[in-house]
Amino acid sequence: MRSIIFAFQKLNVATIGSNIEEAKRLLSSGEIVGIPTETVYGLAGNALDEDAILKIYSAKNRPKFDPLIAHTDSIEKITNLVKEIPEKAKLLADRFWPGPLTILLEKESSVPDLLTSGLSRIAIRIPNHPTTVQLLAELDFPLAAPSANPFGYVSPTSAQHVQDQLGDKISYILDGGPCKVGLESSIVGFEGDDVVIYRLGGTKVESIEEVVGSVKIQVNESSNPAAPGMLKSHYSPGRKMIIGDIEENLQSLPKERTGILSFSRVYDVPEQNQVILSSSEDLDEAARNIFSALRKMDQPHIEVILAEYLPSEGLGKAINDRLRRAAV
Ligand code: TXA
Ligand code: MG
Repeated sequence: MRSIIFAFQKLNVATIGSNIEEAKRLLSSGEIVGIPTETVYGLAGNALDEDAILKIYSAKNRPKFDPLIAHTDSIEKITNLVKEIPEKAKLLADRFWPGPLTILLEKESSVPDLLTSGLSRIAIRIPNHPTTVQLLAELDFPLAAPSANPFGYVSPTSAQHVQDQLGDKISYILDGGPCKVGLESSIVGFEGDDVVIYRLGGTKVESIEEVVGSVKIQVNESSNPAAPGMLKSHYSPGRKMIIGDIEENLQSLPKERTGILSFSRVYDVPEQNQVILSSSEDLDEAARNIFSALRKMDQPHIEVILAEYLPSEGLGKAINDRLRRAAV
């Protein structure tokens, strides 16, 4: 009996390891694998193989109108996937790749429509994580990789997070340690002469503007695939969340049942009910901590989460965007 239970459990748990060869073997045979990046962990499969792409959508329970990002390790490999690389895209790629920036470019017809949900542009980035860069260098195809979480839930920033939520859907997770940025990539595209940011993320708006001048920010909630990005209700920690003055909002709530997600201040609630994003008020540190903080709030005894907006500068803009979506 025990061995039957053991065998059953084994079937439902992915192996977490650092074997790049094993990841390569699985991906080359059309399987999907958890991979580390500097932003969040991805759920990867061959971006040119429709069956592998379907496995990704299905494991995440993600609607097929929400397209996937393709990851490669060099600009040379991208030239086969896109019609052209505009001058401003080259400037951004030179400055930020490898790194947390995704660029939308007109796709070649050989790129499966399933990857881009029928849109004319493909989303591409070169991630900045040594393990995944090595893996990509050894593969002769790009990797489609959305964040490795069930659709609508918080993105994973450790291999264990992937295991907790998708461990029964995949057999291998490549471990690259905790994510150094902690927020998904920023997404940019070009509309005429405008550079448009469709998702605030790990590359600061200020840094992008240093390279291409002022940008349009178009991150409004949408479920329209033509307006890329993110559905309004996303990053759900599975609890009601109120963003505002924590001290004031706490007054009318039972402390034992209230979770607190603050920038730096400690509040008068049980210790296990609160997370401080950065005691030194460092926005980069807060970005690294935000998703694990939202996960920590997912405890049965917590009924309401109180959070506050961070200063709207640097990565604070992207953190506030995620908080706003988590609170819907
Ligand atoms: O940092 C990241 O970008 C992570 C890591 C794994 O690279 N990936 C990630 O993927 O966050 P995902 O699928 O969770 O979010 C990608 C976003 C989605 O909101 C999607 O709508 C948008 O990018 N997107 C992907 N392809 C697109 C396209 N062709 N046109 C417009 N939006 C696109
Ligand atoms: Mg995602």
